[in-house]
Amino acid sequence: DDPRGLKDFYKDYFSIGVAVGKRNLAGEEAMLIKKQFNSVTAENDMKMEMMQPVEGRFNWSTADSIVSFAMKNNIKVRGHNLCWHEQAPSWFFVDKDGKQVSKEVLLQRLKSHIDAVVGRYKGNIYAWDVVNEAIDDDSTKYLRDSKWYQICGEDFIIKAFEYAHAADPDAKLYYNDYNTERPEKRERLYKLLKSLKEKGVPIDGVGLQAHWSIYEPTENELVTAIEKYSSLGLKIQFTELDISVYPWEKFKRARGANEPDEFTPALEAQQMAKYKMVFDVFRRYKNVITNVTFWNISDRRTWLDSYPVAGRKNYPLLFDAQFKPKKAYWEVINFKK
Ligand code: G3I
Repeated sequence: DDPRGLKDFYKDYFSIGVAVGKRNLAGEEAMLIKKQFNSVTAENDMKMEMMQPVEGRFNWSTADSIVSFAMKNNIKVRGHNLCWHEQAPSWFFVDKDGKQVSKEVLLQRLKSHIDAVVGRYKGNIYAWDVVNEAIDDDSTKYLRDSKWYQICGEDFIIKAFEYAHAADPDAKLYYNDYNTERPEKRERLYKLLKSLKEKGVPIDGVGLQAHWSIYEPTENELVTAIEKYSSLGLKIQFTELDISVYPWEKFKRARGANEPDEFTPALEAQQMAKYKMVFDVFRRYKNVITNVTFWNISDRRTWLDSYPVAGRKNYPLLFDAQFKPKKAYWEVINFKK
């Protein structure tokens, strides 16, 4: 058995991470994490509703256990995330009478949240997703019409970065989003990042989630995105990588007769080819890419098993349900070191 894992093969390129929960930190999964990865992200446990479900009441214990597992095993921690329209508890947006709060009050609450969370892990979390998914899905619109946007306009993004920077000046600060290789999202994301840079906002990089499929992105789309974002002087991290065996468009539908629920040899080959292509590209851009993180450990359990169709199995990762490396794994480490 080769003692080396992904992190060792990629040591001259970028760190390799994985999204985890507390349940993953013992037994076989913990062994796999320690062998393969040198960065972890909390899949859910550092989000706003987990950290501060009630105003002023913070839940540190689960997040602490992830950070201490990582520190004990010489693994770095990426923080996810400080401000998002999902998993943001509703108390943020209303006063005691249920009336929507003012911009001043909301920004004050955002500041206290960021001060507390970033402050607690100062020095132990090397990079934060400061703002997550602020761009609208509708390509004719710019920023998402979330509570944050309705109350604060674009300022919530700027302020979130300023608060995070003040709370830990050494942490690297990222804006994180999905579908960032699709042209319609790419142009709007570029516009946002450019405007943040021009305003002098303390942003270090862009997190490209990389919830991909065997159908996309193409090599050209991926390369174009990397070059475009890095031309702003930003670092890039691929923060939530998985390669679904279903096309995203079909996600809207319930499982149909012609949709595979099995990981057939044909799907396996397509997935292997996609993983090979994206890692070939990543290695070429090692000067701007500083981390690649997988969203979940193995095909035993991934968020895609229940999204958007509950009970449909997906096979998006490099390890199978028995934690054995898949063909795609061997392809990802098969390069001239
Ligand atoms: O909170 C309840 C919990 O009390 C209950 O025990 C449990 C039982 O199912 O459900 C719990 O909440 C779930 C939560 O995950 C914790 O497991 C939510 O229903 C479920 O919606 C939530 O899903 C997470 C999702 O973010 C939320 O939008 C996924 O695990 C997580 O993988 C996913 O991650 C996001 C990134 O943060 C941002 N980018 C997209 C990515 C995938 O959607």
